[in-house]
Amino acid sequence: LDNGVGRTPPMGWNSWNTFFCNISESLIRGMADAIVSTGMRDAGYQYVVVDDCWMNSVRDGSGNLQGDPTRFPSGMKALGDYIHSKGLKFGIYQAPLDQTCAQYFDSYPGATGSQGHETADARQFAAWGVDYLKYDWCSPSGSITDQVNTFAKMRDALAATGRPILYSINSNSVHAKTGPQRNWGDVANIWRTTEDIQLQWDTGVANGYPMGVKNIVDVNVPLASYARPGGFNDPDMMEVGRGTLTDTEQRSHFALWAMMAAPLIAGNDIRNMSAATQTILKNPRLIAINQDTLGLQGVQVAGDAGQRVLAKRLSNGDVAVALFNQSSSTRTITTTAAAVGKSGASSYSLVDAWSGATTSTSGTISASVPAHGTVVYRVSGGVTGDPQAPASTTLVSSSS
Ligand code: GLA
Repeated sequence: LDNGVGRTPPMGWNSWNTFFCNISESLIRGMADAIVSTGMRDAGYQYVVVDDCWMNSVRDGSGNLQGDPTRFPSGMKALGDYIHSKGLKFGIYQAPLDQTCAQYFDSYPGATGSQGHETADARQFAAWGVDYLKYDWCSPSGSITDQVNTFAKMRDALAATGRPILYSINSNSVHAKTGPQRNWGDVANIWRTTEDIQLQWDTGVANGYPMGVKNIVDVNVPLASYARPGGFNDPDMMEVGRGTLTDTEQRSHFALWAMMAAPLIAGNDIRNMSAATQTILKNPRLIAINQDTLGLQGVQVAGDAGQRVLAKRLSNGDVAVALFNQSSSTRTITTTAAAVGKSGASSYSLVDAWSGATTSTSGTISASVPAHGTVVYRVSGGVTGDPQAPASTTLVSSSS
């Protein structure tokens, strides 16, 4: 969507994964403080997104949305002002039909969707200083045509406010349970591609619900051609720092989201992050790959059930390469500079995105990767073509 924002994938934090409906203005303010004090803001995390359950179940006498007076006694404008005072941006959640999705989870009564109120609600959001709207289709039905029309109404209402507001949509019933995928780049800045992420690596479900991290990768990788500045696939908020996943899996999760030009929206409690979590979420080399201004999503240049090789072209001519081991034992994954679109040099340099160490190669790019792990190299040197052009679908070599 060409609205001046979201030229690179948005980075921020969202309340849903950890707090669900248990939110309040003190929680959100504390999180904004922690985003600053932990260095997350300086690492690039910008948007503080208040997800579902912020609203009162009734509109005010003039038909305007209002915050829940118990959870947000100072009002939503004051919350936005506080977030802005920290050098951060304010995101909020709403639904396009009559009720928000909390109807399914918590029977939360705050459920006055924007249907029929698009213009007024967009103005209200702008008046509160909202910089990011997550707009979530919360109905088991809805044809693509209905959805396009409905999501476009809010797109146009936001544009009419004159305030640059990043537009994040979730078409739910369209992509749900193996539904068709659509390139929503004409409608939104980011669009969800799967059912909600779960705090699991692999649920064993191929395409539907529940989605673990690995299951989401399976769905999102083939959608690479949709991504561009202003419009990105959204494989959902991150589960890094929320327990359950191993350190290796959390690193893979972050590395793959970076490679897929995914929004980097942390879903953990920033106030209580381990050093290991901070090391992952603030990795400057992976953030630079994610935020590269070409805005390309890494394409798969080789892969099978046990491994994937992704390549992401970067604006300075480098190519980021991910070697992702999907299998349950350590394996050596190998590709070449040529397979990721590089040619014309006798030697290429490889910077390991995790360690920062630099090595060089005449062409072979290889690593021993732990089970569920992802090694990422930034490859420089020679000239760069389109890694998708060679259409190589087989690995140069692999051993397990
Ligand atoms: C849907 C969305 C989630 C979250 C909840 C809130 O499930 O996909 O990300 O916003 O609604 O109810």
